[in-house]
Amino acid sequence: MTDMSKGPTPIILDTDGGVDDALAIIMALNAPQLDLKAITVVAGNIDVDQAAYNVLRVLNIAQPHSPPFVAKGCEQPLVRAPFNAAGIHGADGLGELHRFTDAAGTARYPKLPLQPSNKDAIAVLLEAAHTLGERLTIITLGPLTNIATAIQRDAATMRRVGRIVTMGGAVTVPGNISAAAEFNFFVDPDAAQVVMESGIPVVLVGLDVAMKAPLPRHRVEEHLQRYPTQVAQFIADCTEIYMAFYRDNEGFHGCYVHDPLAIGIAIDRDLAQTEQVHLVVETEGRFTTGMALADRRDRRDEANNPPNVDVCLDVDTERFWQMFDELLWQASAVSY
Ligand code: BDR
Ligand code: CA
Repeated sequence: MTDMSKGPTPIILDTDGGVDDALAIIMALNAPQLDLKAITVVAGNIDVDQAAYNVLRVLNIAQPHSPPFVAKGCEQPLVRAPFNAAGIHGADGLGELHRFTDAAGTARYPKLPLQPSNKDAIAVLLEAAHTLGERLTIITLGPLTNIATAIQRDAATMRRVGRIVTMGGAVTVPGNISAAAEFNFFVDPDAAQVVMESGIPVVLVGLDVAMKAPLPRHRVEEHLQRYPTQVAQFIADCTEIYMAFYRDNEGFHGCYVHDPLAIGIAIDRDLAQTEQVHLVVETEGRFTTGMALADRRDRRDEANNPPNVDVCLDVDTERFWQMFDELLWQASAVSY
């Protein structure tokens, strides 16, 4: 469990503004164990401007008492061309919210005059690393371009960060965007490798655990009936296209909640069972770009390749779902 004796853990969330990112942001806002200082935004599921708008939309719906600072970061991966997931998260990256109207026919999600701050995400990350040092946890929910850019700009300052909890990679299971790679690592493998070899402690929340926690559609609908809040309506709406993708392609009507799981494990590290490994990311593979390759051999050379990542290999799903329900639906109903 998180040690609350020192107060909530200061965090920065780095996100690419997609559907499961939205759920993760709401969880983080409602978690008393976390002090969400800022949200930095990166291109991934959708372009960075739309991703930043999506984050602001989520904040507008969740109405936190003290909204975190939102700063836009990198528009494209370090080396490779941009690659998005609009086919999975919807054309706006957030389930195509313009489709929804209320009973009178008015838009449920009208366009809002929202703008992120003028401050650059990389500067925000470096300032937080400088000021908060090892108290700071960075939680990443998208490609690692912002974090890698901050490391390339000032590695010594970034090495002050306590830990990075990263949703990315697939170590013992197949990928999701290719046979070998998970989406966030696939989009920017070069950035992922910069982070893995940075020396900053990394907890990797990959598909190994994400695929153990499928959220069925009927639970979203049941929660909407039980807690008919604006947040519950938004959760039902923004997950519709995403869940239809899983219904049509993966054989279950629901979705994996990759990014919320990273929040859960950042809150309570004991939710997951981990293994310390030396892990690299394939940046030049013909078929394996973005593959997370962990050396799990008995005769691995720990002197030259010491463990650099704590990989989550199993998760207590029962406890995670309890936390998920509390922080998404129940907390939103209390503050409604
Ligand atoms: C990751 O890719 C994105 O589509 C999701 O938001 C999540 O961060 C899962 O592979
Ligand atoms: Ca994401």
